[in-house]
Amino acid sequence: MGKTVNTYNRIAWIYDPISRWLLGEHYTLSKFCYLDRVKRGKRVLILGGGTGENLREIVDRIGEQGSIYYVEASTSMIRMAKNRFQGKIPTNIQFVHSTDFSQFSHIKSDVILTQYFLDVLSDAELEELFERFNGSAAKDTEWIFADFYAVPKKRWLIKAMIRLFRIVVGHPRKDLPDYAYFFERWGWKEKEACSFMEGFIQAKVYKKA
Ligand SMILES: C[S@@+](CC[C@H](N)C(=O)[O-])C[C@H]1O[C@@H](n2cnc3c(N)ncnc32)[C@H](O)[C@@H]1O
Repeated sequence: MGKTVNTYNRIAWIYDPISRWLLGEHYTLSKFCYLDRVKRGKRVLILGGGTGENLREIVDRIGEQGSIYYVEASTSMIRMAKNRFQGKIPTNIQFVHSTDFSQFSHIKSDVILTQYFLDVLSDAELEELFERFNGSAAKDTEWIFADFYAVPKKRWLIKAMIRLFRIVVGHPRKDLPDYAYFFERWGWKEKEACSFMEGFIQAKVYKKA
C-alpha cells in the first residue's frame, strides 16, 4: 500500500459539498462528460473513484453484462460510494481498497476512468500507473479523464487548492502534472476534449494510438 491510504477518510463526508461550493456545477458536469461512451456490457476500471458521484449512471449504462472494478485508497470513500445504492449494491461492481497499482494492472478493461485522480499522484506514481496499464489496455480501450489545468486566470485558486490538499490529505505535489506528457509517452491519443471554467477543468477521451 502507498502512503496516501485512507488519508481521504477525514474529508470523505464533506468532499462533495465542498467541491460543489468551490467549483460549482462544472465539477459535477465534468464527471458526467463522455459517459455516453460507456456502453452496455463494457468492463470499466475506475481509479480513485471517491464518493462515486457518477457510479449509478455508469452501472445503468453497462447493464448486468458489464462490470466495474472500483479502486479506491479510502475506506470512507468506498463506503460512501456503496451507500449510493441504499443496500442494493450491484453484484457487478468490485470495490477494491488499495493504492497498489501492481495488484490490478492485469485487469482487462474497455474503459479506464480517472477523474481528479491523476493530480493526486507524484510523477513517479504516474509513471508507474501508466507503465502498469500499458500491457493490459486493449486496442480499443478508452480512457475517460477529467482534471484541473494550470491556466493563468486561476493561478491563485490552483495554488490555494494544492496547498490545502497538501495539508489536509497529504498530497505529494506542489504543482499539477503534465498530463499530456504521460498520455503521449505511453501511447494514448486524445480523441475528444471539452473544458469548463475557461480551461481550468478539462475532460478528455484518450485512446491507444
Ligand atoms: C480528489 S479525489 C477524486 C475522487 C473522484 N474521482 C471525484 O472525481 O470526485 C481523489 C481520490 O483518489 C483516492 N486515491 C488517492 N491515491 C490513490 C491511489 N494511489 N489509489 C487509489 N485511490 C487513490 C483518494 O482516496 C480520493 O478518493
